[in-house]
Amino acid sequence: PAVAVLFGGRSSEHSISSATAGGVLRAIDRDRYRVIPVGITRDGVFVLEDDDPDKFALDAERLPEVVDNGTRVVWPEGGADRTLRVRRADGAVDELGRVDVVLPILHGLHGEDGTVQGFFDTLGIPYAGGGVLDSALCMDKHFMKVVLAAAGVPVSPWVTVTRARWESDPDGVRADAATMGEPSFVKPARAGSSVGVSKVHDASELDAALALAFAEDDKVLIEPAIVGREVEVAILEGRDGDMPRASLPGEIVLTTREFYDFEGKYLGGDGADVVCPAELSEGDTAAIQELGIRAFQAVDGKGLARVDFFLAADGLYVNELNTMPGFTPISMFPKCWIASGMSYGQLITELIDTALE
Ligand code: DAL
Ligand code: MG
Repeated sequence: PAVAVLFGGRSSEHSISSATAGGVLRAIDRDRYRVIPVGITRDGVFVLEDDDPDKFALDAERLPEVVDNGTRVVWPEGGADRTLRVRRADGAVDELGRVDVVLPILHGLHGEDGTVQGFFDTLGIPYAGGGVLDSALCMDKHFMKVVLAAAGVPVSPWVTVTRARWESDPDGVRADAATMGEPSFVKPARAGSSVGVSKVHDASELDAALALAFAEDDKVLIEPAIVGREVEVAILEGRDGDMPRASLPGEIVLTTREFYDFEGKYLGGDGADVVCPAELSEGDTAAIQELGIRAFQAVDGKGLARVDFFLAADGLYVNELNTMPGFTPISMFPKCWIASGMSYGQLITELIDTALE
């Protein structure tokens, strides 16, 4: 089958998606799939990219990017048409052949939020990963928590603040924030990779934290910082109507870093280790796997998700689901499946073949 690997995109996580592309282009099974690399620039232009893993390697000094090379990928016309085309800079149009499936390894808005998924649903092209509903729900931390809580999945308390309310009633917002205790986290509702996230140690830090989060989104969440271990589990959709499957859980082990922020994730900052399998009792492992699957089902999960938890003294809390989790070979999601007996290449095959089923 022909797979369009779609990466980059308009979100603040453009480079992380591009780094994932580096890993995927290197490991995808070339005997099985014909690969068509399609990049989306930060401006939202679809370009035919180079099939070059090295170009998109994760380099902390210079994060990879999709830049406008003058080509334009033209998606099929709809109906029975599945032909992908490219318009060259000189205006000539070449056919790239039939596209059987899209692998959208996009993070954040316009990629992990159901919009691109809806585009391919409309065109009738199968794609790997989350569908419209689960992607849209999980992109919005407010609605994700509403749905998880309604399904009986434990989530931390939270306060949602809109920009309009912050501008009209700052004292009311400060009072609400105080009910979350200290320290707390302030996060944009719709972002990822910890972009715009701050840990607030006392009330004097709140306004700056809100300003940082509102720079990313018009809607912001304030949550108490939960004291506990940060554990994560990787979920894959079941095949042939089977139940979803959970990997062995992993753990973000913080040594000197205060939280697993963007620098610790991607810029080579130390002080946080990604470990899988985590050292856990059999009981905790089973509870994390079971709750991970329940959370995936609660949001009508499709394809895959990474479910992030806090393991606190009083039990497990689901922090969030990521419907297109970081997927570089050293990211938690692949690491957890590798620890559970699958290779990185097999995992890519699994995602694509599930979409083709
Ligand atoms: N949003 C990043 C990519 C993650 O969840 O891993
Ligand atoms: Mg996230």
